[in-house]
Amino acid sequence: MLGSRASRFGLLILKHLTGGGKSISTPTYATRSFSQFLQPRYDQQSGTKLFRGAIFQKHNHFSTTTASSSDQGTEQKETISVTFVDKDGDEKHIKVPIGMSMLEAAHQNDIELEGACEGSLACSTCHVILMDVEYYNKLEDPTDEENDMLDLAFGLTETSRLGCQVIASPELDGVRLAIPAATRNFAVDGYVPKPH
Ligand code: FES
Repeated sequence: MLGSRASRFGLLILKHLTGGGKSISTPTYATRSFSQFLQPRYDQQSGTKLFRGAIFQKHNHFSTTTASSSDQGTEQKETISVTFVDKDGDEKHIKVPIGMSMLEAAHQNDIELEGACEGSLACSTCHVILMDVEYYNKLEDPTDEENDMLDLAFGLTETSRLGCQVIASPELDGVRLAIPAATRNFAVDGYVPKPH
């Protein structure tokens, strides 16, 4: 009796030491701590994830930004040559940045092109005539709204366009634009367009 109790007590101590019959897996602890080591860390200020090599990533980021800034600077400098010819035949040569309308370019260079509606296709006072048909053919076709306004323009020609709708592009380098002797502004002159 005493012997069997002693042996049971011995078994209990043995169970306790070995984790209650379950095997204590040393590799489990080892795996956990290894995976914890692999967990990403976070930048305390920005909250962004930090991986190993983050320093290299940051340096790469800075060098990319620098390159794109210099590209933008080159784009902003691109211009084309445009000549405006006024009603007296006097010419004015200007440089127009790509993407700018001929109406804006005229205003920036003190050229008398009215543009009463400021480019909202509600007048025909920005009427210009492309002096060379080859340049006229390089333009996108006018929209219905532009054609409606051109119908009201004074002295309409085959190569007439609205200056606010002609946008500087590389193909237009060297274009010559004549400003008609008169414009018709129905908002000011009291002209009322007939309904279609
Ligand atoms: Fe009025 Fe061009 S400014 S249509």
